[in-house]
Amino acid sequence: SVAHIRRDALLAWYAGVHAHRGMPWRKPYDPSFNADDRAQRAYEVWVSEIMLQQTQVATVIPYYNRWMTAFPTIKHLANSNIDTVNGLWKGLGYYSRAARLLSGAQKVVQDLNGRLPDNAKEMESLIPGIGRYTAGAICSIAYNEQVPVLDGNVNRLLSRVLALHSSPKLKATLDILWSAAQAIVKDASAAGDVNQALIELGSTVCKPKDPNCKSCPLAPSCSAHQLAGSVSDSQWSIRPELSPN
Ligand code: ADE
Repeated sequence: SVAHIRRDALLAWYAGVHAHRGMPWRKPYDPSFNADDRAQRAYEVWVSEIMLQQTQVATVIPYYNRWMTAFPTIKHLANSNIDTVNGLWKGLGYYSRAARLLSGAQKVVQDLNGRLPDNAKEMESLIPGIGRYTAGAICSIAYNEQVPVLDGNVNRLLSRVLALHSSPKLKATLDILWSAAQAIVKDASAAGDVNQALIELGSTVCKPKDPNCKSCPLAPSCSAHQLAGSVSDSQWSIRPELSPN
């Protein structure tokens, strides 16, 4: 299990060098926000997460800033049209993402009083294009809801922490990993920070090749790291990318 994971070490690492890195959608959670403020944050995080789905952070930043200038609120977006939206998306690719943002915004304005849902369950069931990962990211970051995230990077990170070498796409493997991600965020007072720390650690430190275990706050509680050198690489034959340092 992940019971031994040092969440405080993870958060301290995230608060240090890595917390913001010039990403305009990363703002500290503000408990004084009212429901409208939080829904606005959900809109911002939604746009960023959809843009980040197939595109790297550095590429997304200027697109995100132009988008927010054109559509500062979900109502501005809902009142736009597909040509304007596609124009702002030009160069990002996978244009269906832009169309889903537009139709999602129109649904929110028509059916939900202009506010994105405030919990992951409704977010996933009511907004087309939002799956479990995206709902978890938005709701933990914007509403501080204690819901998990599992993207490809967090999948690899938690597989290493648990020394779980079964295929990353098997339902049984995913069930274990989602449960682990849920356990890490459960009872966290800063759920959004915990999840963003996992995303950040998975993408910048716990990389497929040559993971940087020396600067990883989870190395002391990482099973793959403990096993390094003591088991043969054949343990990782199904997931050679997990072979640890
Ligand atoms: N990729 C997906 N979500 C992200 C986030 N919140 N920060 C950085 N990279 C991400």
